[in-house]
Amino acid sequence: MPLDRRQFLLQSGSAVAVVALFGQGCTTAAPGVRNDVLGFTGVPASLRDGVVIPPEYEWQLLYPWGTPTGVAGGMPAFAPDASNSADDQAVQAGMHHDGMHFFPLGTDGERGLLVMNHEYTDEALLHTDGIQGATGWTEDKVRKSLHAMGVSVIEIRRTGQGWRQVSPSPFARRVHGRTPMRISGPAAGTPLLRTAANPAGDAVFGTFANCAMGVTPWGTYLTCEENFHGYFGGPKEAANAMTPAQRRYGTVPGTQWVEYWRFDERFDLSRHPNEAHRFGWVVEIDPFDPNATPIKRTALGRKRQESATCTVAKDGRLVVYMGDDSRFEYIYKFVSTGKVALGSNGQPAPAAGNARLLDEGTLYVARFDADKRGRWLALTHGSNGLNAASGFADQAEVLVHARLAGDVVGGTKMDRPEWIAVHPQSGEVYVTLTNNSQRGDAGTPAPDAANPRANNFFGGILRWREDGADAASTGFAWDHFALAGDPAQPGSGARYPSADADMFGAPDGLHFDQGGLLWIQTDLSGQVIGKPHYTSLGNNQMLCADPASGRIKRFLTGPNGCEITGCVVTPDRRTLFVNIQHPGEVRDDGDGGHNSAWPDTRTTANTGPDKVRPRSATLAIRRRDGGVVGT
Ligand code: FEO
Ligand code: CA
Ligand code: CA
Repeated sequence: MPLDRRQFLLQSGSAVAVVALFGQGCTTAAPGVRNDVLGFTGVPASLRDGVVIPPEYEWQLLYPWGTPTGVAGGMPAFAPDASNSADDQAVQAGMHHDGMHFFPLGTDGERGLLVMNHEYTDEALLHTDGIQGATGWTEDKVRKSLHAMGVSVIEIRRTGQGWRQVSPSPFARRVHGRTPMRISGPAAGTPLLRTAANPAGDAVFGTFANCAMGVTPWGTYLTCEENFHGYFGGPKEAANAMTPAQRRYGTVPGTQWVEYWRFDERFDLSRHPNEAHRFGWVVEIDPFDPNATPIKRTALGRKRQESATCTVAKDGRLVVYMGDDSRFEYIYKFVSTGKVALGSNGQPAPAAGNARLLDEGTLYVARFDADKRGRWLALTHGSNGLNAASGFADQAEVLVHARLAGDVVGGTKMDRPEWIAVHPQSGEVYVTLTNNSQRGDAGTPAPDAANPRANNFFGGILRWREDGADAASTGFAWDHFALAGDPAQPGSGARYPSADADMFGAPDGLHFDQGGLLWIQTDLSGQVIGKPHYTSLGNNQMLCADPASGRIKRFLTGPNGCEITGCVVTPDRRTLFVNIQHPGEVRDDGDGGHNSAWPDTRTTANTGPDKVRPRSATLAIRRRDGGVVGT
């Protein structure tokens, strides 16, 4: 099998970034204002049910939910009536595409692996009897639902007709909610991770609730387990027995989103409380080896994991930035003990040479001070008050209950930290804080310097510069890049970095391309899109920002009900891959149908005889003249 990792390392964005960092070190020198960027025709905010992009660009559809992944010997066609079995779903595109990366194959930029998360399921679309409303659970439905989350690895190639999926492909793989995986790092084997099925506490079935992601310098994919809590449940009476830690993570019987626990006992918190401790991690997957066992890396801490963005410190240590997407949760950083190993060609060594880097290191939470300075506070047992007296028996417990450890050391409670992106030249770090409608409510933290708005409905983007331009520093300076919302609304508090910036709300996905353009994606709740105070923002969208000048221009608006998430620009900067997640999510008042059929072009909702199921999918976007995207 032509596992051409070396070509990946030579061509991938992460490898380029590593070379830049090793070769030159980070620099804080901001590039000058450039006139060669954001030259595209901006698109207006829109409530139109479809994909709208600049006229000089074109998009094509790839890999909608249910498409065969391309695993040889098992490529069941998508059944529009959802009659595919649970086994079919295990080798088809999952639902709700999210974080994504492109790993090149070969040198011509025309072939690669597209690796993406499938975040959650819409049970009403997933099962034959659900389209008019979710009905009873069965063991088969639980299996199909678990198979519809996780990660896809697909091979794609650019042809005369554009990007096409290669199917079958020796690389094709689905990792899902029942795939065997290893648990490694300081919390592996700890009593908190041991279960009846796995007394050693070092192995687990599956990953799900996979939201944002990261890419290591050695060419592996990091998938992040976000809202895992909603899948664990149990009899309501068992809620009283839950510990403060279980409540902090939201694993409380009776509050579950699905009824897995009735048909698969590992999801019953009253019987197997430790099973939920085995989710909420960053999971490393080698996309070039379909037989490699995914590994949950506990040294990075357990949270509602949102992004695991890698960069390299001045001395070669690996640094991983992470968000924890809940109201009043923290921003984290992991710094490895060892340095990224380089091969004889000066490129990062393959995965095997860096196998321990994600298992040994220091985890920190961020504190943002009012003077625009910040500190990284170590979550290390035996220091900063983390000891038995404060409720932590050892480092494993600090990691499993990282949120509680963050409280002890005094991290800053943020407005839902989502994606984190590192500028490829300056090393400046940007994070989306998507919103926090409860900030300042009775019994909640008041606004602070970093989270300045009470009832923060629109979110914003914050950024920081590590001291000495070194990602391993324990101090940094920060400011706001944008406070989102419609500045024309009285009291919005919106503030953008330039007078002509296009506005947005609820930023979520965030991606720097190798040219230093920042792609911003939004996830306004379907419940508010088009409603008073939100109408001018339109449907969810993607914008392109030039941090050097502060210009922000809207590039894409999406179909009704969707969020835009998952973004990667190819190393040659000629193709932009974007995911449309949960089109039609909102049920129309009255008939109960989804409010979009996208990508199906029929305009009827799914209640008619056609019963059209909207499907999450990937867009491949290129300039019609083949030029660099975003310029
Ligand atoms: Fe899955 Fe926080 O977005
Ligand atoms: Ca997200
Ligand atoms: Ca989201």
